[in-house]
Amino acid sequence: MSERLIDMRSDTVTRPTAAMREAMLRAEVGDDVMGEDPTVNALQERAAALFGKEAALFVSSGTQANQIAIKAYTQPGDEVIADALCHPVRSELGAAALISGVQLALIPTERGVYARAQAERMFRSTNWMQPKSALLWVENTHNAGGGTVFPLEALDGLRALSQDRGIPLHMDGARVFNAVVASGVAPAEWGKRCDSISFCLSKGLGCPVGSILMGRREFIARARRLRQIYGGGWRQAGLLAAAGLHALDHHVERLAEDHANARHFAQRVSEIRGLRLVYDDTQTNLVFLDIAESGMKADDVSKRLRAQGVALAMRGGCTFRAVTHLDVSRADVEQAAAALKTALA
Ligand SMILES: Cc1ncc(COP(=O)(O)O)c(C=O)c1O
Repeated sequence: MSERLIDMRSDTVTRPTAAMREAMLRAEVGDDVMGEDPTVNALQERAAALFGKEAALFVSSGTQANQIAIKAYTQPGDEVIADALCHPVRSELGAAALISGVQLALIPTERGVYARAQAERMFRSTNWMQPKSALLWVENTHNAGGGTVFPLEALDGLRALSQDRGIPLHMDGARVFNAVVASGVAPAEWGKRCDSISFCLSKGLGCPVGSILMGRREFIARARRLRQIYGGGWRQAGLLAAAGLHALDHHVERLAEDHANARHFAQRVSEIRGLRLVYDDTQTNLVFLDIAESGMKADDVSKRLRAQGVALAMRGGCTFRAVTHLDVSRADVEQAAAALKTALA
């Protein structure tokens, strides 16, 4: 067994770099529940300015950002219009139902992207027995959709729809910086098309913890109250915010390397017999693989990979997800592709 694990299960597995740890050590801190942590305040102000939003809130996770946003915009019994593959449906333990008491009107999509006409069909009539359509939800990049960048024209259509119908549009931008780098569309361009938007620091940006939720001042004030209710108020969180500021300075442009490595990996593994790429284009840092044609069990392949020092995420059935990130080099993806070939031989 190799000493070092090439861990391509997720971009959340990165460990803070030495320079990031230095920045954390130097952080000035205060009590953030009292709004007095200067480093948290600096991070929030910087993020809000970057995305053209009035205010921002530093929260502990992407899930917390999502659940705060859903709760802030809805009443129990309301409906959220989203794509059927979105993170709150697949990977948040039914929290939208549990916490906010909402139901989700889910649009079937190929890669998590949908257009105005599809969303329009999901709106309920004004019949008093129907739930209220309260929120439009998009995910960018789309995780289960294979790291897809939400096309700007589709987003423009949804923006117009949300304005016509008078309901907010929220973007789960856990990996929106991957979208920024892949598309060249600036953060403020995404920000201005949505009422609110989040991003994760703990994914491709390489921080240990944290996400940012941004929107109008009143929305963020409500979000702050909800964060407290969920036990998410934190005190000297400036240590973590310092990592976030460091990441915004040093880890955004380099996402292009992750994208190039993901494309390289996809190209290499597409040559392996018995393996199929689930999505034929690799837009950002996520690659989905299907090994059904090999006739092997995912469990067995995973064990064979581990024995060669490689970890991919098992996504159910015969599907794996491979993710490139700060701790995965070009040589690592070469090695991972070779290990996969051996495991499927
Ligand atoms: C699109 C998307 N939203 C939200 C989350 C949740 O983030 P966290 O793991 O920080 O709760 C994830 C995590 O992978 C994600 O991919």
